[in-house]
Amino acid sequence: MTDGPRNLSCPRLRSCVWRTAWWASLGFFLLAALAGENPVRYLRFDEVEETLRLNADSGLPGSEIKGSEAWDVWIRARDTEVRGRIDQGVEDSISNLILYGTSFTSLARVESVEFAATESGELRPATVARIHALALALAVSAKNERVRFVRDFLERKGIARKSIEAYFKENLGRFAAEQAAYQKKLQDAAQDRDPSAVYLARGTLFETRGLSVDTSLLPNFALEETLGAMLRKSALTAGSMRRIAVIGPGLDFTDKRDGYDFYPLQTLQPFAVLEAVARLQLGKAEDLEVVCLDVNPAVIAHIQKLAEGGRAGQPYTLQLPRDPRAEWSPEAISYWKGFGEILGSPRTPLPVPVSLGGVAIRAVAIRAPFAAHMQVYNANIVAETLDFPSGQGFDLMVATNVLVYYNRHEQALAMANIARMLNPGGIFLANNVLPAEHASELRYLGRRTTTFTPSGAYGDDVVVYRRR
Ligand SMILES: C[S@@+](CC[C@H](N)C(=O)[O-])C[C@H]1O[C@@H](n2cnc3c(N)ncnc32)[C@H](O)[C@@H]1O
Repeated sequence: MTDGPRNLSCPRLRSCVWRTAWWASLGFFLLAALAGENPVRYLRFDEVEETLRLNADSGLPGSEIKGSEAWDVWIRARDTEVRGRIDQGVEDSISNLILYGTSFTSLARVESVEFAATESGELRPATVARIHALALALAVSAKNERVRFVRDFLERKGIARKSIEAYFKENLGRFAAEQAAYQKKLQDAAQDRDPSAVYLARGTLFETRGLSVDTSLLPNFALEETLGAMLRKSALTAGSMRRIAVIGPGLDFTDKRDGYDFYPLQTLQPFAVLEAVARLQLGKAEDLEVVCLDVNPAVIAHIQKLAEGGRAGQPYTLQLPRDPRAEWSPEAISYWKGFGEILGSPRTPLPVPVSLGGVAIRAVAIRAPFAAHMQVYNANIVAETLDFPSGQGFDLMVATNVLVYYNRHEQALAMANIARMLNPGGIFLANNVLPAEHASELRYLGRRTTTFTPSGAYGDDVVVYRRR
């Protein structure tokens, strides 16, 4: 009898095996990067054939495709179309900055997008004044990261100086009208006799919207709560995770809910998911590997820069604001208070502008090695996949507030892709209802609601899938 299996169950040896595998896979990606190889490629017809068959009657674009030649043409065109929505998402972020930003003007914030325009769609004077303030700031505010971002964007789009305010107005008008249409769609669904109508409407709510980069802390609380519940039910085992993919990590530019812009741009989810897995002892923080997939060049550049900083020994500081008026539940507050306790240490937060009086804030500096190990790829999850050496797939993949930007067919394609990249037994978590017509390799385990407020008015529904 050999003592191999017994040895493998010894935690120290297992950790050593993990570590070796971790270095091996990191080595693979570093070597690939050095050799100029990109592991990202388009999904092949044989990898989505089942999904196409399941969606053949949907009438959605691409679902009628029956052969690999047509598929190869279609998926490339679709990828271009998806990426064509990135700029509109940036325009939406600029609209949020105009409405809520405090870094470029002392004018009062607009209460919410509903107050930006009249019912007939005319921008209100307070909105127009803020547009003017941002246009003025563009000429002078060299230090303001967001203003610089807007300036670079306008330059790239070829917007002449004299046309900037008109351009902002047009975008804001469109943005306000779209937000009103989303509200209406949800209200209509709430009137439906079928209680699932609201979930279904929410699931594809932004399918034609620009791809926004907004991000905030609380979806990560919902992910951690869900993983914790799975662990308690023995649906997950301690130490079972090593490689994590964060699809669409996002960038906190001017989050649409709170609209803060008084701290540097930051990304939260890669660290939040890493910490959740470590806190629940699903993996050891130092052994875990986080790979981010995104399509937005600003998100990709930000993560590359923070990883470079980490490799140069620089910690990555996150600012964590919390508006007490939002009435977070005690559990959500305790998540906020504990955020970063494993990966970093507390820092003195940036001062909250007087105009945001009452907003609580903490800051945490993520230790350099955790930043250093972040990887990011420019990959469109509905069209592109990553090739790994055998056995180096993901144990956990998350996509919150990402697939809601796609139709049912595209969501099903993303699911086929996710199933392909997961290790057997690996878990996929998202926070919107996804199509039932998806790759059979993914098994639906259920949905769990995490409320962020005691009233339950605000929260996330996390759906859970396991790769067979
Ligand atoms: C609204 S943000 C969500 C950020 C974060 N996941 C959260 O919940 O706070 C959407 C993110 O997904 C990215 N994204 C959108 N479509 C994508 C796609 N097809 N493939 C990869 N990333 C995508 C966006 O660029 C952005 O970073």
